[in-house]
Parts: sequence; structure tokens; C-alpha cells
Amino acid sequence: MSNTSKIINLTLKIWRQENPASVGAFKNYPSGPISTDMSFLEMLDVVNEALTQQGEEPVAFDHDCREGICGACGTVINGQAHGHLEGTTLCQLHMRNFKDGDTIVIEPFRSRAFPLIKDLMVDRSALDTLVAEGGYVSVNTGGAIEANSILVPQRTADQALDASECIGCGACVAACPNGSAMLFVSAKVSQLALLPQGQPERAKRALAMVRKMDELGFGNCGNERECEAACPKQISITNIARLNREYLKASLFSREK
Ligand code: FES
Repeated sequence: MSNTSKIINLTLKIWRQENPASVGAFKNYPSGPISTDMSFLEMLDVVNEALTQQGEEPVAFDHDCREGICGACGTVINGQAHGHLEGTTLCQLHMRNFKDGDTIVIEPFRSRAFPLIKDLMVDRSALDTLVAEGGYVSVNTGGAIEANSILVPQRTADQALDASECIGCGACVAACPNGSAMLFVSAKVSQLALLPQGQPERAKRALAMVRKMDELGFGNCGNERECEAACPKQISITNIARLNREYLKASLFSREK
């Protein structure tokens, strides 16, 4: 335990729902003594341990790397996807950001395209379906070519790298009043549209991913910018402007349409 760590006690209002067909409701739980050094997920582990010992069903929640890189974690904390800390995934949100005696409301990402599985877990496979629609480059395998033979201006490379930081957690969808996946799709389209390797499938990708997004029940962008604010990787909505240009160009000039 670090010198600055404290013990706090919280009241948790957690969404409990047995399965997609059952009726869910918030249930109150005392957190028990929690170290401020713990991450939010570690705090939930402690709560689950107590529930298990009492013979109660532990709270189901998604997680994997717990290092802010996989995109598996994600719930809504006090009305904000991944909580109130900017540029932070839930697994990197630490309990030192809460005060002793706080009440914390914990609920799942809610969106038409993310059906609930159980408690705080939702099915975000619609994002995988979107990537399968064009968020990749098809390459002929073979010997790697000399890196300097394809020159990319520094600024363009930086923009592509920024877009590629998207971890596909779905916070943008959960935060958007329209349940739009525009930030997610625009990050995937941008990172490839900016680089030489993404050019052969550029038009096809933009058309296919946008069309699939509509088909899967995601809403349209209303320029609310909630997605940008909730994104743990701080993906900029300038990518959405690029996606709109890519889609328009592909619709007007591409033979793929
Ligand atoms: S568990 Fe991997 S990003 Fe949070």
C-alpha cells in the first residue's frame, strides 16, 4: 500500500439483470473497506468476493487486459462511460478519484446495437462485424519491403497513429444520444485511408462500413461530441469529418458503389 493510500467505504448502486429477457433493476451494495490504490475493477472484485461468500451471485462485468489496451472493460459510472476521468478506461480508473461515503451508480453500456447479456455485460460484437466489413487491408504475403521505399509525411503518419489508438470499447456508442458508431468507424477508416497500404480498398471500405453501420442499428452522428469526450483514447471527431468526405467521394466517384 502506498503512503498516500486511504481506506474508503462506498455505496454502490449496481444494475443487476439475470439475462436479456428478465427485468433488471439497481441493487444497493456496501463496498466494504476499499483501498484508494485499487482500480475500479479491483474494487468490483472485492465486492464479488463478498457476494460469493454470502452465497449471492457475483456481478458479471467484462474485463481482460486491465491495462487500458484491449477495450474489453466498460460500464457507465455515474452517467459517464468509463467514469468521469478524461482519457481513461474503466480498468485504469482508480478509487483515489472517489471520496469516502460516495454513492456510485454502475450500469451497463446502453445502446440498441449492444444487447445486454447479464448485469454489466453487453454484446459488442456489432463492432467486430463492422471491422469484418472493411477495417483491414488485404495484402499479399511475401518478403517485407524496405521501409523507406514508401514515404509517409510525419503529420499524416501521426494522424494515422492517433486514429489507430481506438481500442473498440464502444464507449463512443454508449455516450452518443443517437447510439452512433461514427467515431469508431471513422477511426478505422481514417487510419487506413491515410496510409499507402490502405489505398487499394479505400473506397470499398468507406462504403461498406458505413452501410453496415446503418444495417446494424447504429444511429447517425448529431455532432453532440459526447463520443469524443467519453473516448478513453481521446480519438478526435475530426476523423468523423474525414469519414464523411471518404464516403461522399466513394459514393460519387467509385465503381464500388
Ligand atoms: S480491461 Fe482491457 S482496456 Fe480495460
